[in-house]
Amino acid sequence: MKKIVIALDGHASCGKSTMAKDLAKEIGYTYIDTGAMYRAVTWYCLQNGFFRGDTIDEERLEEEIGTVDIRLAFNPVTGRSETFLNGEKVEKEIRGMDVSGKVSLVSTLPFVRKALVAKQQEMGKGKGIVMDGRDIGTVVFPDAELKVFVTASPEVRAMRRVKELEAKGEPVSFEQVLENVKKRDFIDSTRKEAPLRQAEDALLLDNSNLSPEEQKQWLLSQYNRVISE
Ligand code: DC
Repeated sequence: MKKIVIALDGHASCGKSTMAKDLAKEIGYTYIDTGAMYRAVTWYCLQNGFFRGDTIDEERLEEEIGTVDIRLAFNPVTGRSETFLNGEKVEKEIRGMDVSGKVSLVSTLPFVRKALVAKQQEMGKGKGIVMDGRDIGTVVFPDAELKVFVTASPEVRAMRRVKELEAKGEPVSFEQVLENVKKRDFIDSTRKEAPLRQAEDALLLDNSNLSPEEQKQWLLSQYNRVISE
């Protein structure tokens, strides 16, 4: 059967990764979470003391970015993708508020984007992938056969994120998360390098009022349509 590239872009915390994971599992594709890669670089910066408040030691990061090894591996026991930074599992660390508060700063740096985009293109060159991020349909795989741009209201997204963090034993206030979601939207869509925007040929999906199952079915029907074309 023909294999394609599925690019899922959209706003922070809009459930893209759940949709992407569900679809990948259903159709036997590899799921690639590019946000996890930017988060892993951010964790690396935090661990190595590269931040001073809201500024980052760009020179040191640029010197070291070539040596930062990021791998995404599927864990058959949990059925989840896990992120490794220089051989160490950092899945839990990269999902915390420390990283969420700083990741937009790191992802605006052109040399970081260049390094990670190259890795992502390499990971997807054999096709058969569902890749989620911000610039997949516009920059990483502009020729992807199926592109979807996902969005939901900031309040819906913040509430989903609060529940996700609570389930992981990291309680946070709704206001704090809402502020973080809005701040990331602003930085992601106004940055100079690869700003978040819907590709002209991407389908728009507002999932504010859709359940994970409804989203999955919608996406599956789009996939079936494309592969039968
Ligand atoms: O999807 P996420 O929230 O885990 O992404 C974390 C951050 O990484 C987000 O603020 C934007 C950035 N990002 C990006 O710039 N490009 C991507 N392809 C994926 C994520």
